[in-house]
This record gives sequence, C-alpha cells and structure tokens, in this order.
Amino acid sequence: MIGNDVLYAAKLLKQGDVVAIPTETVYGLAANAFNPTAIAKIFEIKQRPSFNPLIVHVKDLDSIFEVAENIDERLMQLIKRFSPGPLSILVPKKSIIPDIVTAESPYVVVRIPNHPLTLNLLKLIDFPIAAPSANPYQYISPTSPLHVQKQLGNKIPYILDGGTCKVGIESTIVGIENNKVVIYRLGGISIEAIEETIGQIELKTESKSSKTPGQADKHYAPKKKIVIGNIKELVHLYSKKNIAVILFGNHDFISANNTTIYNLSETANLLEAASCLFNILHQIENSDADIIITELLPNMGLGKAINDRLLRASK
Ligand code: TXA
Ligand code: MG
Repeated sequence: MIGNDVLYAAKLLKQGDVVAIPTETVYGLAANAFNPTAIAKIFEIKQRPSFNPLIVHVKDLDSIFEVAENIDERLMQLIKRFSPGPLSILVPKKSIIPDIVTAESPYVVVRIPNHPLTLNLLKLIDFPIAAPSANPYQYISPTSPLHVQKQLGNKIPYILDGGTCKVGIESTIVGIENNKVVIYRLGGISIEAIEETIGQIELKTESKSSKTPGQADKHYAPKKKIVIGNIKELVHLYSKKNIAVILFGNHDFISANNTTIYNLSETANLLEAASCLFNILHQIENSDADIIITELLPNMGLGKAINDRLLRASK
C-alpha cells in the first residue's frame, strides 16, 4: 500500500515491520535499527548479502551520539555543516547497534535525512531506523514511490509517499583512514563542497573488498545493457537495435527511427541531472529499448557522482 500516513508508518516500525520511506536522496527500506529481527527482514526483502551493512538514520545531531562514539572532529564538522542532508559518516558504533546492522563491523554509517515526512516519522518513534536503498540488490535505486512499488511492492506492507526525491542520488559517505578524511562513496554532497569545509580529502571509491561503502563493482544497474562512449559512433555500431540514448545538455545528436532520446538536463545543470538519473533509467527499463547508450558528464560537482553511477551500472 502507498500512502502518506506517518502515524501508520510509525506503528508498523514499532511492531518490527519494514516500511519504505522517502528521503531527499532515494527511497529507503526502513526498520528499527535496534531490532535484529526487523533488520533481518530488510536483508531478506532486498536479497542483500549479509556482509553488506546498512545506513542508520537519525533525527538530529544529538541522536548521532546514541548510536556512535569517539567521532572525529572533522567528521563532526562535516555532519554539522551538511545535515540534514545527503552526507553520511562512518564512525565507531555503540554496542546498542546490533551486529547485523553493520555486518559485524565495529563502525556504523549514520546520517540525518532531509525529508519532512521522514523527519516527522523519526520524531514519532524512539529508535533510529536502518535503511538501505529500497531496491533489489544491485538494481536501480528508487526515487519515487512507484519505483518502490514496482520493485518491492508485494514484499512490504507500506510505502510512505513523500513524492519524488529532490537530490536523486545516494548520500556521500565519508570516514577516517590513517587520520585522513576519505570519501568512500560519491553522492549528493560534492567533493568540492566537502573540501571547502575541511580541506583536502582522499578518494577511496574503488576497493578490492566488497565490504566497503557503495563500492561493489556492479551497482545501480538496469537489466538492459548500458554502453558508455561516443554517442554517434555507438548508435552507428548498434544500428540494428532499439536504442535509448541518454544525453546531457545541448547535444547535436539527431534522433533516428531506432532511437529514443532522454535528456538528463537540457540546460546542462548537474543538480537536475542527478535528480532525474534513476527515474530515466527506470523509464527506459519499462520501455522497449534493447540497449542504453550514453556518455560521461563533466567530471565536476555532482557530475562525478553521476559518472560513478553510470560506470557501475555499465559493468
Ligand atoms: O542516500 C542514502 O545513503 C540512501 C538513503 C536511503 O539514505 N541509502 C543508501 O543505502 O544508499 P545503501 O545500503 O544502498 O548504501 C549504503 C552503502 C552500502 O554500500 C554499504 O555497504 C555501505 O553504505 N555501508 C553501510 N554501513 C556501513 C558500515 N558500517 N561499514 C562500511 N560500509 C557501510
Ligand atoms: Mg543502494
């Protein structure tokens, strides 16, 4: 069921059920972070491997200290500056967070989502909620209630409808390694914005281990093949196929009989492109296209996070 009844969503969470919730980034699949049985349902519904930990969502800065401790000053500075908003921090967890949430890690990822309905929901309950993106494992993230409905509707009792996600890509995840601030996952807060706050940081978004945030090689992927490169050449190469072409800005590509054009932002605005990226992938998934052809966006601001999603989706 889809609706905007926050009280009902709170009731379900209190009784250990799973509810899809809106955030500014993507929809989350939420359960009581203190209740291991409820958390196990998330892994089951998403078909997510148990080694892949969940982000914990809290209502305000004070609540972070209910789940985490010994937080580095620089991470505190960042979370203060960008919360509520699309920034998550990887910090030492308190024992109140069950091991299933963090996949046995002594560290937990925490964030304060910037969505009025979900902030209200968090005020109605006396526990934080763990929530991965509300999509089946490795599939396209949901940015509207209908995306969740299509992918997981028959597996969850309620989808809290908070409209379309404004940011549209997941949160940026930062942590500390060797006393340096590192970014593990590019997301809704740009590297530039982070560096403006605390100086130079390190990027660690490629990892050999599948245990680190958002780094699984294949990710965010539609079932259709995505090919990235020179659009005109690729369209020529795949001329026998029905092609969905994803463009950005004012492009001189001319549509042909076998192509359908989707534009992430005709005015070449990276914020707009981020906000509609997953929606466009969902639209194409529902279309009769055989293949998706696109090119990378300018490698700046949210363009980096979008390129990261496109590259992982194309693997
Ligand atoms: O914007 C977001 O962050 C969305 C919304 C719903 O809040 N959530 C989200 O969750 O993107 P998910 O599970 O799709 O991605 C979280 C990433 C995963 O790659 C996971 O491995 C990593 O964060 N992660 C979570 N907790 C972790 C931990 N304790 N240690 C290392 N990585 C962690
Ligand atoms: Mg995800």
